[in-house]
Amino acid sequence: MDLKWLLVRRITLVVLACLIAGAGIAVYQTASVARQQNVTLAEMMGRQLEVQLGRIGRALDGHRRFSDWEVVTGYELYPGQCVQLLGTDGAPRHSRCAGIDRASAAGVPDWFVAAYSAVIDGEMPASHPVSYRSTPHGTVLVSFSPQATAGRAWATIAPLAVFSAAFLAVLLLVTSVVIDRALLPAKGILAGLNRLAQGDLACRLPPCRLSELNRISEVFNALSASLASAMSERTELARRLVDTQEQERRHIARELHDEIAQKLAALNALAACVRSSAQSGGSGVLDEARELEQMSSGLMVSLRRTLTYLRPQEIDDLGLIPSLHALVAQQNERARGSTSYRIETRGDMERIGADTSAHVYRIVQEALTNASKHANARNVTVNLSQVPEQGREQIRLSVIDDGSGSPHEERVATSLHSGMIGMRERVVALNGTFQAGPLAEGGFGLRVEFPALQPALQPALQGGA
Ligand SMILES: Nc1ncnc2c1ncn2[C@@H]1O[C@H](COP(=O)(O)OP(=O)(O)O)[C@@H](O)[C@H]1O
Ligand SMILES: [Mg+2]
Repeated sequence: MDLKWLLVRRITLVVLACLIAGAGIAVYQTASVARQQNVTLAEMMGRQLEVQLGRIGRALDGHRRFSDWEVVTGYELYPGQCVQLLGTDGAPRHSRCAGIDRASAAGVPDWFVAAYSAVIDGEMPASHPVSYRSTPHGTVLVSFSPQATAGRAWATIAPLAVFSAAFLAVLLLVTSVVIDRALLPAKGILAGLNRLAQGDLACRLPPCRLSELNRISEVFNALSASLASAMSERTELARRLVDTQEQERRHIARELHDEIAQKLAALNALAACVRSSAQSGGSGVLDEARELEQMSSGLMVSLRRTLTYLRPQEIDDLGLIPSLHALVAQQNERARGSTSYRIETRGDMERIGADTSAHVYRIVQEALTNASKHANARNVTVNLSQVPEQGREQIRLSVIDDGSGSPHEERVATSLHSGMIGMRERVVALNGTFQAGPLAEGGFGLRVEFPALQPALQPALQGGA
């Protein structure tokens, strides 16, 4: 339901409830006034008749007989009010009634009279016993015609109802105009959301006068701005990734061409020499065969290096931890003591899947290469541990060095270098978190965390940066 109609309905209900309560109070008050009038009149008439009895009893008015109704009829009666003198047997001996104002009685709706009579005893009778020297002589009974009391109540609440109806109409009109104006910016916000849903990330909302809507439009603008920058970063990342893949392919093609194809050609030429030497019965066959042997083993080394570049075989053969130890050993060998590389592992990594292991291996490989290229560090430590966290097993990986850090912290944070991109993409594929940058205590740190048990993984990116 729309807000305007919801408010209009609620306000109408509240005003009606107030009207009913007000009308109830007014009806109750008119009824009490009428009852009080009957009680007062019954008392006055009763006393008057008792005075009459006293005077007759003391022979002051000996010539009169009780009851002298003429004396008491001097009292003014309200419209619809009736007064009766009942004998001791309960039979009426005298009565007098005032008529109802026909014109005003005609204006009272029948349903109101019926409802009024159903709830309130409209006659509101009041009685007063008449006695002299403890001898009862009758009872004065005063009552109203129910139509008269209903008419009085109607006369009180009719103006109230008219006023309330007019008040309600004005209130609803003002409310709907105010709500329409207040909600005008909400339509703009809705239109903005639709534009955003259709991909218009440049859409921004103007400020609103209402502080709540203004806050919504501020949040909308901040969200669409960050969405736009995330989209452009994603596009840039995708472009870089495609570039990286191309570079990888070029690298493999160059490896195959420069190393393998060249060596195969040389092998081919040497085999031809061996054949012609053997045909001519020359003595150099043995040396040439030895050379052939050396070339083929050189070829095998090149091939193994290329295969390792594509996917380190030991991950599948030995498992992740031994492969990482081998990688660290290689780094130490290359560093020749200028940098010391260490690895610490904790926890059982057996359950890590093959794809996850390849991602971890490549991340460590890239981090170690970066440390050797950029850090100029004395110590580089790789730490890989499996820890329980909130009921799930998490893998934490850190590669920390004590080198020069990076002079360009900004550059690393927003780095579009393919090494950082590759590592970040791998961590995203592992549903993990990635942090890399200079450390406060000096040096450079990489921290990665991801769930040990991975659902179906995105295809692993092959090759290092
Ligand atoms: N261990 C490190 N110590 C200092 N700087 C680093 C380290 N690792 C990365 N960096 C910085 O981060 C940048 C981005 O790294 P990367 O994306 O791997 O690109 P590349 O290695 O090709 O320069 C590097 O150019 C370097 O400035
Ligand atoms: Mg790098």
